[in-house]
Amino acid sequence: MPTILITGANRGIGQALAHSYLRDGWRVLATRRGPDSALPDGVEPLPLDVGDGDSIAALKAQLAGEPIDLLWNNAGVYLDKNLSLAQLSDRDWLRTFQINSIAPIRIAEALAENVAASQRKVMAFTTSKMGSLAGNGAGAYAYRASKTALNMAVRCFANDYRAAGISCLLLHPGHVQTDMGGPQGAIDVATSVAGMRTLVDRVTPAVQAQFSGGFFDYDGSPIPW
Ligand SMILES: NC(=O)c1ccc[n+]([C@@H]2O[C@H](COP(=O)([O-])OP(=O)(O)OC[C@H]3O[C@@H](n4cnc5c(N)ncnc54)[C@H](OP(=O)(O)O)[C@@H]3O)[C@@H](O)[C@H]2O)c1
Repeated sequence: MPTILITGANRGIGQALAHSYLRDGWRVLATRRGPDSALPDGVEPLPLDVGDGDSIAALKAQLAGEPIDLLWNNAGVYLDKNLSLAQLSDRDWLRTFQINSIAPIRIAEALAENVAASQRKVMAFTTSKMGSLAGNGAGAYAYRASKTALNMAVRCFANDYRAAGISCLLLHPGHVQTDMGGPQGAIDVATSVAGMRTLVDRVTPAVQAQFSGGFFDYDGSPIPW
């Protein structure tokens, strides 16, 4: 039975990922920052505040020696949604970078041995098309820049961990109906997760060169950087 670890599994896309992998019989390690946040029945709950280095270190210690086939860095924030640049504080901009850009890489670093010890050796990072420079956006400075930074950091990580057999995928989930995406999102969580899984579940060390370091839409099509 393969094992997945999902960050931010208590709501939105992370929760839908947990349901989906549970249905397929995977062992699901599901992180949440609040002890009272609801998680799907059948997961193994783990505490994690992704913005807290001590919390990441505690997670690493708790999982020592446990192979993880798929680490899915999903947790994220969109603190400047509908805010102008003048309304965005430096504090929230830095917080956005902490959660969206730095934390996924620190978690990947902390759990790299677990992933390298598994059969599939995959790390998925939920990014956003809004971080594409080719997309040439406007507004949402903190969110967009944090995902652009994540994309570059994952590229570096993919190169550094290639020899360990780890494949790293950057995935845009679509505009999804969640608390973050809002009710006007173009797709529901089930459609997003099913699409992303079509790509992620194909990846093994044998096809690492084809996929690792790539930036993909939820339907599997490549996104320009
Ligand atoms: N929805 C979209 O249209 C869309 C589009 C592009 C990309 N994305 C990306 O997809 C991912 C999931 O988004 P979503 O739509 O599912 O968002 P969501 O419904 O707002 O859920 C966000 C998740 O991240 C967790 N999280 C935030 N800060 C955290 C922290 N410091 N420590 C631990 N967990 C934390 C939340 O936990 P709490 O409940 O504790 O806050 C929650 O579980 C994000 O990376 C987002 O940027 C979403």
